[in-house]
Amino acid sequence: MSTNGVVFPPELVQAMRQAGHIVASTGAGVSAESGVPTFRDAQTGFWAQFKPEELATPEAFAANPERVWQWYAVRRRRVREVQPNPGHLALAEMERRARRFTLITQNVDRLHQRAGSRNVVELHGCILSVRCPRGHHVIEDYQDAADEAVPRCPLCQAYLRPAVVWFGEELPAHALEAADTAARQCEVFLSIGTSTLVYPAAQLPFTALECGATVVEINPQPTPLTDSATYTFHGPSGVILPQLLKAVWGEMAAPQNP
Ligand code: OAD
Repeated sequence: MSTNGVVFPPELVQAMRQAGHIVASTGAGVSAESGVPTFRDAQTGFWAQFKPEELATPEAFAANPERVWQWYAVRRRRVREVQPNPGHLALAEMERRARRFTLITQNVDRLHQRAGSRNVVELHGCILSVRCPRGHHVIEDYQDAADEAVPRCPLCQAYLRPAVVWFGEELPAHALEAADTAARQCEVFLSIGTSTLVYPAAQLPFTALECGATVVEINPQPTPLTDSATYTFHGPSGVILPQLLKAVWGEMAAPQNP
């Protein structure tokens, strides 16, 4: 089956139509076409310019809270400026069309929810929220003030931190359990825009494979999953996902205002 270039095998189209449960697991690549940089792409990825251990660890925050806070403040502003792209919108539409659909994401930008996705499992937290490291205080949808010092917890005076998961930290247990359960139960697992290098998220497509799911990878570059995936489509998710949606369920409905 072909839609404007991409050829989707009829077995895949059939598997998605018949699936009782589809899982999509996304990484930074799905937001790249919205203008949010990825982490590991050469030249443009964050980790090509910055050392993760200086910005995305509890030790980095303890050593230099101001620097870490400012880096996240810049990213927070950027995420608020950008818009969901056709890949996010196609995934939200898939959720409306599929019998059951779980979206697991390593992204912290909330673009899936802004595109209309509802059943979203955030594995790495959300950059828009900040919290007390001791659990006293959370501010959802934190609004940055210009030239602001690192704010403190009103209860214990600790510096507030972005509500994301840093290297060396545990993922939220409820999110990890929901993701693992969905990977074990689904018939089709889509792995989209992730380098499949960061665990435990990187384990999920392999778990789905072991449990008999059809695993589809969408990524312009090969990853450690590529050789094992049932199907691989090399290209940007903002191009491939709308075509996949159309091949499986027909024309996409007009985008909803979330
Ligand atoms: P990476 O930056 O590691 O990988 C992004 C992937 O997206 C790469 O495989 C690219 O080839 C692919 N990509 C680029 N443009 C794309 C496009 N238009 N469409 C589809 N794919 C595209 O990002 P993640 O795998 O999400 O963790 O990284 C995982 C985690 O590592 C992140 O959540 C973050 C990071 O350090 C923490 O901060 C804890």
